[in-house]
Amino acid sequence: MAVLRFPETNQKIEDEQKIRAELAAVGIDYERWSLDRVPADASADAVLTAYGSEIEEMKRRGGYVMADVIDVNRETPNLDAMLARFDKEHTHTEDEVRFILAGRGIFFLHLNDKVVSVEVGPGDMLRVPRGTTHWFTLCEDRRIRAIRWFQETTGWTPHYTDSGVDQGYQPLCFGPAYLGPRAGITVSLDQEA
Ligand SMILES: [Fe+2]
Repeated sequence: MAVLRFPETNQKIEDEQKIRAELAAVGIDYERWSLDRVPADASADAVLTAYGSEIEEMKRRGGYVMADVIDVNRETPNLDAMLARFDKEHTHTEDEVRFILAGRGIFFLHLNDKVVSVEVGPGDMLRVPRGTTHWFTLCEDRRIRAIRWFQETTGWTPHYTDSGVDQGYQPLCFGPAYLGPRAGITVSLDQEA
């Protein structure tokens, strides 16, 4: 279940319908999908087969041409370098579409001079339209498994804004086990305890 946060006002929304409505108002799709199609340890091929109807429906809705399964965890080689590509504010020339199968992460969305964050977890489907300024990082377990959709087969590239806006926000699912790319940010003693 997702958590929508408004860092400037410390407001937090955890109700599915309210999250959907808030995000829909800014052009972002949020849905909850069933996780019972496949066991947690199913192969990527089994996942793509089991969710075949949803994958095809999303392709029709968004003009996506392919889907795959991304699966990273704290043992993934070069994980820090991979995360560092996406934890700075950027845009893409195609939508960023994810259905989360396992793990948790946070999308920070910079919309109309305001930043909101969407913490996503298993069962959450999020579609961030092309051109949306955003950044993403993992939660403390440094794990994410998700179906991704693509509109182009040429590769999925971040275009950095270099705004520095991302420097002002910590992932609020930050936990004591998390010592990743933002470990240099000062953390209060309360959070470390
Ligand atoms: Fe992105």
